[in-house]
Amino acid sequence: MSRSASASASVEKIEVKGLCFDNQDGQRILDNITFEARTGSITVILGPSGCGKSTLLELIAGLRKPTAGEIWLGTLSPDACRKKGLLGVAFQDPALLPWKTVRENVELPLRILHRPVQDAQIDELIEKVHIDRFRPCPVGAETDAARAAGIALGDCLSGGEKARVALARALVNKPRFLLLDEPFGSLDSPTRRILILMLRALLQSKEFPPVATIMVTHDPQEATFLADQILVLGEKPTSIRKRAPVVFAEPRTEELFTSGSFLEYCEGLFHTLSAVIESFKPTPEL
Ligand SMILES: Nc1ncnc2c1ncn2[C@@H]1O[C@H](COP(=O)(O)OP(=O)(O)OP(=O)(O)O)[C@@H](O)[C@H]1O
Ligand SMILES: [Mg+2]
Repeated sequence: MSRSASASASVEKIEVKGLCFDNQDGQRILDNITFEARTGSITVILGPSGCGKSTLLELIAGLRKPTAGEIWLGTLSPDACRKKGLLGVAFQDPALLPWKTVRENVELPLRILHRPVQDAQIDELIEKVHIDRFRPCPVGAETDAARAAGIALGDCLSGGEKARVALARALVNKPRFLLLDEPFGSLDSPTRRILILMLRALLQSKEFPPVATIMVTHDPQEATFLADQILVLGEKPTSIRKRAPVVFAEPRTEELFTSGSFLEYCEGLFHTLSAVIESFKPTPEL
């Protein structure tokens, strides 16, 4: 399904309008969610654990159907967008194919879309997500040796390494729409910072076509560094409790992490999140 060109703005963006989602027990998870994620920008979503952030991304990816409301990726429905190969997704569960190597997992979207696979480009991407430094199993040319030795990918990657492979896989087809669910959630702080810097620089660079990105995180610093717009969700039935633009000078470099205005913004965000979580705590019985 697609919208006519006249019904859409000329700028590609993700539009979520009046979105509601009830689970199979009829419980309302998401309630009247409306926002836009513009091309060339990163929208970061924060909120309490269990409020429905992953569910929201799954709806935008077309893997779940809304109870009410609309989702558009440019002029396309989520299903049409996915089928055209315009969507890149890294879910919270990396869902790699454990019998395939790192490189085979990363290049999978290109193979499914029958697009050319350039080894140098794949290797560069794997290097960008810092798998080259940490991977304990062979990539690429040494694959056969790994297979001969009975080394399956599932046996030899940590949770954080799997998440980084999933990130590379989401980026490999240079999508126009990108959904990332806690891509750095299981990383040590220094590696996390390297990848945050890499991701912002990559998505802003000329080598990458303009993309509308929606990312979920629990980390105020990660959110503030990466975002052009932040949405804070409340508890179930979940609505948007706060929307805030993030305006720091470009390019955002590592120095930003220690600047006063950045730290102040992060602290404000932390307090917003605390207030959202605090306000839904059950009242203790006396
Ligand atoms: N497959 C499922 N069947 C039933 N309920 C589910 C299923 N997956 C998630 N839920 C429930 O839906 C709600 C939203 O879950 P979701 O995974 O979207 O939360 P989240 O905000 O991503 O949480 P977290 O920050 O912990 O990842 C939760 O109450 C969760 O228990
Ligand atoms: Mg989640």
